[in-house]
Amino acid sequence: MDRRTLVLLLNSLWIVYVSGYVPLTLTDCGSTANRLLNIQGNTVDYPIEIPGHVKARGTVDILHDVQPDRYTLNVTVEKWIVFNYFTLPCVSNVGSCSYDVCDLLGKFEGRGGCPWQLVESNFPCMCPFSNATHTLQPLPFYIPEVQGIWSWIAFGDFRVTGTLYDNVLSEIVNCYQLEFTVQRKPIVIEDFWGWW
Ligand SMILES: *[C@@H]1O[C@H](CO)[C@@H](O)[C@H](O)[C@H]1NC(C)=O
Ligand SMILES: *[C@@H]1O[C@H](CO)[C@@H](O)[C@H](O)[C@H]1NC(C)=O
Repeated sequence: MDRRTLVLLLNSLWIVYVSGYVPLTLTDCGSTANRLLNIQGNTVDYPIEIPGHVKARGTVDILHDVQPDRYTLNVTVEKWIVFNYFTLPCVSNVGSCSYDVCDLLGKFEGRGGCPWQLVESNFPCMCPFSNATHTLQPLPFYIPEVQGIWSWIAFGDFRVTGTLYDNVLSEIVNCYQLEFTVQRKPIVIEDFWGWW
C-alpha cells in the first residue's frame, strides 16, 4: 500500500469514526416528593470534543437548604464498548464513586476557590447554602488533552448516572442520567498531510 492510499484509508476510517454519536440526553430517573433538585440543561456545542471547551447552559433549582453531612452523591460512569455499557471503576476519585456533597464542593477551596464560571453564575461552592434557583451561563469549561491509557477511555459514548441520597430522610431524593459522546477534536486535513 502506498502512502497516498494509506492516507485516504485513514481519512475514510476517521469520517466513519467521527460521524457516529449518541444524542445528548438528560433523563430524570427518580421520583419522590422529597426531591432536592430540578436540573434542566444542555450543552451549546455538541458532540463534546477533546481537547476543547465545553459550554453548558441550564438551570438548577435547589428546593431545600443544603447542610453538611446530609447528602451523598453516588456516580456511576458507564462506557459503551462494542455492544454493551460497562461500568468504569472509581480511580483517584474519578469514575464511579461515592461522594459527600459538601466535601466535594469543599475541594474547590484547596484549588484556588470556586471556578469562575460558577462564580459568574452565582452557584454556591460552599456548604451550607439555602434553597434558590441558579442559572448557569454558557461559559466555557476547558477540557485538556488526555494521554496514554486515558485516551482509550476518554473517547466514545458514555452514560453517567448520579443519585443523591438524603442521610436524614434515608432515601434517594434525586436521580439523573446523562448520555453523551466525547470525540477527539478532528484533525484539519492540512495538518494531517503535514505528518508525512
Ligand atoms: C452508593 O455507593 C456506595 C459505594 O459504592 C454503596 O455502598 C451505597 O450503597 C450506594 N448508595 C446508594 C444510595 O445507592
Ligand atoms: C425557599 O423555601 C422557602 C420555604 O419553602 C420558600 O418560602 C421560598 O420561596 C424558597 N425560596 C426560593 C428562592 O426558592
